[in-house]
Amino acid sequence: MDRRPIGIFDSGVGGMTVLAEIKRHLPNEDLIYLGDTKNFPYGDKSRETIIKLATKCAGFLISQDVKAIVIACGTATSQALDELKKIYRIPIEGIISPTVQDIKKNRKEEKIKIGVIATEGTIKSNKWEEELNNEIENVEVISKSCPLLAPMAEQGWTSNNVAKEAIREYMKPFINKKIDKIILGCTHYPLFKELIRQELGNEVDIINTGEKVANYLQKYLLSAGIENAKEHIGESIYYLTDTECNFIQVAERLLQDETLKSKIEKINIE
Ligand code: DGL
Repeated sequence: MDRRPIGIFDSGVGGMTVLAEIKRHLPNEDLIYLGDTKNFPYGDKSRETIIKLATKCAGFLISQDVKAIVIACGTATSQALDELKKIYRIPIEGIISPTVQDIKKNRKEEKIKIGVIATEGTIKSNKWEEELNNEIENVEVISKSCPLLAPMAEQGWTSNNVAKEAIREYMKPFINKKIDKIILGCTHYPLFKELIRQELGNEVDIINTGEKVANYLQKYLLSAGIENAKEHIGESIYYLTDTECNFIQVAERLLQDETLKSKIEKINIE
């Protein structure tokens, strides 16, 4: 047993989709969330910059004595996870590997066609494509960057007409391609799930990576014997590097927690 909290970070509110799944799967765990809102967006920054920012985020969480870190950000996972694993000894996982392993384990199709949508930086890194091709036989991957979606999600524009048009445009490469699954490779994108569903129909499996990460984490904590006590009721605290943003409104809606504001603290991790 290990009563220390789990650290989770992202550039903004997107990682809260991962936090929501972790809370659901692991109600006994305390969570510390870091939203690097001052440096949002990560999606169009260089690999070098992402490594620098992710190193600071992980360093801050480690200073809070967390027992493990989840990179709840596709961009930081694709560009900085390997580097962070070299720097820090603490268990660190991102969103790619748990998702790919889950697809591998549960595949039923002979040939499988997978769409991936993510930020510019993630798509350029080729990480999803590489890992899917390495781990899964007979897979075809169709990738598309959707650079407008994360900024729109931060604004809370996830169901208005602008969001509808953006999703319609971004889903075009997947229409009539008969994809089996689409991976929401940026953690902001589950906020558009309903619109994506409307465009792609019910046949396509829409993968929320947060759910896969939470599943993985649940098994990992148990196998490592570092889960919190069963009678403990998990608490979450939230740190933001800037509070001049819509994080609170969007996150309150997502978690349906009106007390969220009182649990948020502004910090400097420079
Ligand atoms: N939520 C992030 C991701 O999964 C970052 C989006 C951004 O900051 O551009 O990629």
